[in-house]
Amino acid sequence: MQIGDGKPLKPAPMVLLGAGAVGLSLLKRILEKRDYLASNYGVSVQLRAVADSQSAVIARGDSLSQEELHQVIVMKQKRFPLAGLSITQPGCGPVELAEKCCERGVVLVDCTASSQTGEALRRTLEIGGKIVLANKMPLTGEYSLYRELTEDLGRSRWETTVGSLLPVISSLNRIRSSGDRVLRITGSFSGTLGFLMTSIQEGKPFGEVVRGAHALGYTEPDPRDDLNGMDVARKALILARGSGWELGLEDVEVENLVPQELEHISLQKFLEKVGELEGEFSARVEQCRRNGHALRYAATVANEGCRVGLTDVDVMSPLGRLKGNDNLAEIHTELFSPNPLVIQGRGAGVDATAAGVLSDILELVLG
Ligand SMILES: NC(=O)c1ccc[n+]([C@@H]2O[C@H](COP(=O)([O-])OP(=O)(O)OC[C@H]3O[C@@H](n4cnc5c(N)ncnc54)[C@H](OP(=O)(O)O)[C@@H]3O)[C@@H](O)[C@H]2O)c1
Repeated sequence: MQIGDGKPLKPAPMVLLGAGAVGLSLLKRILEKRDYLASNYGVSVQLRAVADSQSAVIARGDSLSQEELHQVIVMKQKRFPLAGLSITQPGCGPVELAEKCCERGVVLVDCTASSQTGEALRRTLEIGGKIVLANKMPLTGEYSLYRELTEDLGRSRWETTVGSLLPVISSLNRIRSSGDRVLRITGSFSGTLGFLMTSIQEGKPFGEVVRGAHALGYTEPDPRDDLNGMDVARKALILARGSGWELGLEDVEVENLVPQELEHISLQKFLEKVGELEGEFSARVEQCRRNGHALRYAATVANEGCRVGLTDVDVMSPLGRLKGNDNLAEIHTELFSPNPLVIQGRGAGVDATAAGVLSDILELVLG
């Protein structure tokens, strides 16, 4: 394929791990934006392979054909395993796929939620490939793996792991490469918890809000995976490590909003019983209101340690004014002082995340 002036398109070869909500949205975006990417960037995305948790579809030549890509999309839209396609190679795990397809210049894109992809990402860098992560897990385990996966900015991007499409990680990287020093970061990094907190602040009952958000697909399949604070804790750790601090998850104090007795019951039972937390939450909201404050689930990230949990904030502060599922990051540095750098906006959503992943891929390919 060529651009209008006859120049050949620059290939953007990639391998996708994970064809769930984000991976699928990315595949559709690649198809939809094909002409846009060609005419504006002179780039043609070549899909070398797509994998789910059980198997992989690998291109015979440089790229899966449009027809093969359509088959993958249809299959995963129906939530069927890729193993059901005749073009699938069974038993090809992430490391084998990386070794087979991720030579120099190929981008391995991790859109899984798995803690098992670290070695494939590491191996890709070792053999000259590049990596993009939407998956927080490999960046929040061993610090040494975090370092290996993030130290070469020419070959690695993980922008969507915090704040989805918001430019939080890239801002942090620019702050550090300028020689400035991060002092602390505060903010709200869960669209779901942001939505829940602003809804109860408006007087809506906690149980009803959780059940409504779950029914609309705004929460994780099990809302306790949002309410336990671990996803925010992982984001806080990525921000801390991105600020240059050698911390681990054990350095993040996490306030779990799910009481112990509701932790291990079935999802259905939990949804029935979540209203029992009503009294506790409305009392806290009321107490905040009397002090001119709002209740938020916020993160504080500092070298001395991090905390994620319920926090009273002034209603007129940026966090207090936050609405809906917006995220907010206030980055305090030696130069951004006394006023912090503030980044705010939609910080969640499958399509926004897929768009951010595509942007990360393009940045790596265009160099
Ligand atoms: N949704 C958002 O707004 C958002 C925002 C920022 C970041 N993220 C992150 O993006 C990632 C993807 O989220 P999602 O909502 O798309 O998750 P998802 O719907 O659960 O999809 C995960 C996909 O990964 C596949 N998978 C699991 N283990 C694998 C392995 N070892 N090798 C290859 N594929 C594997 C799954 O395969 P099967 O299909 O076989 O199960 C599935 O296709 C997560 O890490 C999430 O935290 C999401």
